Amino acid sequence: MFQFIMLACLFLTSCAENRNTQDFTTLTSTMAYDVKRAENNSSQSTQKEYPNLYIVKHPLIQHKLTIMRDKNTKLPAFNQLLDEISLLMSYEITHSLQLKTVNIDTPVAPAKGFELAQDIIIVPILRAGLGMAHGLNHLIPTAKVGHIGLYRDPATKKPVEYFFKLPPVTKESMVIIVDPMLATGNSSAYAIDLLVKAGVAPKNILFMALVSAPEGVRAFHARHPEVKIFTAALDEKLNDHAYIVPGLGDAGDRLFGTE
Ligand code: URA
Repeated sequence: MFQFIMLACLFLTSCAENRNTQDFTTLTSTMAYDVKRAENNSSQSTQKEYPNLYIVKHPLIQHKLTIMRDKNTKLPAFNQLLDEISLLMSYEITHSLQLKTVNIDTPVAPAKGFELAQDIIIVPILRAGLGMAHGLNHLIPTAKVGHIGLYRDPATKKPVEYFFKLPPVTKESMVIIVDPMLATGNSSAYAIDLLVKAGVAPKNILFMALVSAPEGVRAFHARHPEVKIFTAALDEKLNDHAYIVPGLGDAGDRLFGTE
């Protein structure tokens, strides 16, 4: 019910925006990759220092994230908040998906309409990414879902792959990787390496995180400058254990109650 009301509000806001700026029939031609909306949300200084980072600063997202950060927030609130934030962020990051024109018949007359031009694939990085995939999948129920399982080798601190399964991809597929915490950037960059090897075009990959560390965003940019990162917050730093400060602790543990 909550999700339905939220989607209805988002839809009405979007209609009001489009009515003023775009004629329905010209919508597709203006939908080439346009990140203006997210750019407006990221401050100019952040854009200069982190060129591929977009901070989604919607007040509802920031409010909910603060509750998630609080160490007293436990299950099931933590999971529900992550789900809600993911849904809100999904709306923002999918703003520039491309459309193609289709012909349909309404009960009254033939009409031209639109459908998503690309196949969309959601890829959570296990295990915490699962907590973000649901919100995104709710908004795009036709999306297929791949999974990447990585853990960090305690000695080398490098990601080790233990699971990788993707639906069929083409150069046109749009892949949205989700992982709540962009910490060192090693896992996220490794996940992108895997996708590129599997045939996904880097320009068609988006990365959605909840909280990011400056060190991780820089490392990510050094390896994949063409992949856009959408995050709800850019925090202060990493600590000696590669946890984000202030962060929210171990997202996987808090999500699955394994702390
Ligand atoms: N992974 C987490 O879950 N939390 C952090 O702070 C860093 C990595």
